[in-house]
Amino acid sequence: MASQAPFTLKWGIMATGWIAEMFAKDLLTNPACRGVSDVRHEVVAAASSTSKERAQDFLTNTVKAPSSAKAYGSYHELVDDPDVEIVYVTTPHSHHFQNAMLALEAGKNVLCEKALTVTASQARKLVEKAKEKNVFFMEAVWTRYFPLSIKVRELVKSGVVGPIYRVIADLSFNKDKPDGTVDFADSHRIVNMDLAGGALLDFGIYSLTWLFQSLYHVQPEQEKEAPKVVAAMNKYHTGADETTSIILQFPKHKSMGIALASLRVGTDVDGLNTGGPAIRIQGSGGEIQVMGPAYRPLQYKVIKKDEPGKVEVVDCPIPKDEERDWGHGTFWEADECARCLRDGKKQSDTMPWSESLVIMEVMEEALKQGGVTYPDLITSDVYEPNGALNTGRK
Ligand SMILES: NC(=O)c1ccc[n+]([C@@H]2O[C@H](COP(=O)([O-])OP(=O)(O)OC[C@H]3O[C@@H](n4cnc5c(N)ncnc54)[C@H](OP(=O)(O)O)[C@@H]3O)[C@@H](O)[C@H]2O)c1
Repeated sequence: MASQAPFTLKWGIMATGWIAEMFAKDLLTNPACRGVSDVRHEVVAAASSTSKERAQDFLTNTVKAPSSAKAYGSYHELVDDPDVEIVYVTTPHSHHFQNAMLALEAGKNVLCEKALTVTASQARKLVEKAKEKNVFFMEAVWTRYFPLSIKVRELVKSGVVGPIYRVIADLSFNKDKPDGTVDFADSHRIVNMDLAGGALLDFGIYSLTWLFQSLYHVQPEQEKEAPKVVAAMNKYHTGADETTSIILQFPKHKSMGIALASLRVGTDVDGLNTGGPAIRIQGSGGEIQVMGPAYRPLQYKVIKKDEPGKVEVVDCPIPKDEERDWGHGTFWEADECARCLRDGKKQSDTMPWSESLVIMEVMEEALKQGGVTYPDLITSDVYEPNGALNTGRK
């Protein structure tokens, strides 16, 4: 019997920066290289707020998309393209609310980079719009779709190390410079307040992802509880948080998580990953350790209390398309989008709207406690289709 043709999803890439490149190249890899045959992807268009030439250069030279892919010099043109079935929003998170809303208003399905928005209210409005337009909408927390993450969630649920009482997760990069600054220009989106810079929204979201994956997501729906939040932040001279620590408490489950992020010290101390696990998922019967970086982990370990000295080490390499010499790991979340659309689902069970909203609420509370205040332009939840954040930097 002939096998069914794979479901094809046609992507439009909004913006042409670093992660846009990683993701578009992943879309163009052969799904067979990761053992996938039920879905496939096409890059049919890309848009740059800088110029059409930049979008064309991205398609032709950077990601080597088929010559049929269209280049646009504005985000508006991209969302109006009838060939585009899903828009991947890959602008700085300062822009996500306005840019994702632009795409949703145009009736497009949307995969939006993390952090989903700057405020919880913005995230709620996007979810409401996705519901109203009856389209698919998902926050691009790619790590959740790694086979490693799926396995770790299964292990947690199976109780292999008993009930989980504490999770410690860190995603930090040592960017410290002797002159007291960090190795990012003040204009760089990692520290620029106009671009919602700071350790939390950029890196801490991944630490929180591990807390939520292990302490919240795995709970039955009726037992999920929004955590209590205690946060502290040291601020950089731009006003962005440079070192952030958050404690989440889930009183009903007697569990707790500690999420860490910093631009001053690194999870990976020596660049060789000898600094120990980035994530420790601790149960009464042992612990699961995940080797970092938290966003792209490649190995986990299981250590049981009653089997001293025995450490189960499992490597989970990211498959590469040898022909294109590429494989970053964002293709698994792309496959999830394709399967959801194929199956008529508007949200992903692995990153449901409700969980994105709870995480945004946690981050908003942490920023409040840390005294970080972003400019009005990027915290507004009023959609401005022709505002500066949608019309760009020509
Ligand atoms: N999933 C991941 O692993 C991952 C990794 C890195 C980043 N991210 C997230 O993805 C988003 C983009 O990060 P990135 O590292 O790709 O950033 P980036 O390299 O700076 O690219 C961002 C792009 O957004 C567009 N843009 C529009 N207005 C802009 C403005 N005022 N200033 C700067 N850029 C502007 C630009 O593209 P055009 O000029 O073409 O419009 C720019 O190239 C962020 O939200 C980040 O948190 C995710």
